[in-house]
Amino acid sequence: MSLQLPKKVTIIEVGPRDGLQNEKNFISTAVKKEFIFALKKAGIKELELTSFVSPKWVPQMIDAAEIVSDCLDEQTRNIVLTPNQKGIERVSMTDCKAVAVFVGVSNTFNKHNINKTTTESMKELLPIISGLKSKGYFVRACISTAFYCPYEGKILEEDTLALCREFVDAEVDELSVADTIGMAVPSEAFSLFSKLKQAFPGVLLTAHFHDTRKLALTNVFAALQAGVDRFDSSAGGLGGCPFAPGAAGNVATEDVVYMLERMGIDTGIDLEKLIEAVEIVKPHLSRSIESTYYQLQHHPN
Ligand code: HMG
Ligand code: MG
Repeated sequence: MSLQLPKKVTIIEVGPRDGLQNEKNFISTAVKKEFIFALKKAGIKELELTSFVSPKWVPQMIDAAEIVSDCLDEQTRNIVLTPNQKGIERVSMTDCKAVAVFVGVSNTFNKHNINKTTTESMKELLPIISGLKSKGYFVRACISTAFYCPYEGKILEEDTLALCREFVDAEVDELSVADTIGMAVPSEAFSLFSKLKQAFPGVLLTAHFHDTRKLALTNVFAALQAGVDRFDSSAGGLGGCPFAPGAAGNVATEDVVYMLERMGIDTGIDLEKLIEAVEIVKPHLSRSIESTYYQLQHHPN
């Protein structure tokens, strides 16, 4: 008997977006750009650059247009997030060709995050997706509260699958399915991702784990066993949704890369260069870097 492991895994770096969106103090556009350039130097090939959301709701992302204008390149899938038509209008004024839309399975979370019910959001998003696809955009759908909601508790697998089905029918390129508040355990991660893999073989399937209970890496391993070979992660383990109370950062890219590379799985990412990227943003953060890889480098026994 042996583990079921892929030879190669794709990391989708979400540090510049999920990682920074919840930072209290504004991080200058220049620092954000330097962070993004350093992540690319470390080998990141798919990256959430920023989000086009209301600056009243998420002030940190106010410089989205400027970030995009200076950070696009041919070698990377540079993705921007938006939840609505106004955001799409802003994106269409840039040269960015990869858009992530986002919605929660939980109505209550979606109301807190986007000020709409899930159904209202889908009514707005489905024509947006069709328009983007007809113009040749890469479309990623981020599914929040796929396991648990901070307001409604446990989410049924069938509800997550049903919402994913709506996006797959709309012909999105990718589903990024999230444990927004970091409450899933490996058995739940394995179960949901096995069902998603089986139900939607034709779509890129990505797992997005927050590390509130220090189980994110075990969930990555469980999702690997379910056949997932794409993971969202954040350099330094930064992140969290401002409207998901109690949620910690994303699983740290350096911890995921360390684990995968030690298991013989190619990520294409240079760990030392990745830490150089973390060092660029670290002095500007209101939090410390708690990833295991970073801590061991800086405080070895
Ligand atoms: P609202 O207040 O209901 O919106 O907010 P509205 O349509 O009434 O507009 C209010 C104002 O915002 C207007 O401006 C609009 O023009 C403006 P005003 O007339 O007052 O000057 N506006 C915008 N401005 C810029 N870009 C836009 C935009 N839309 C409206 N796109 C809204 C609704 C959706 C705007 C708001 O709730 C919002 O921005 N929410 C975003 C929340 C967010 O960014 N959350 C974090 C990302 S999701 C996440 O982290 C989860 C994920 O990581 C997966 C996981 O872990 O679960 C992806
Ligand atoms: Mg997230």
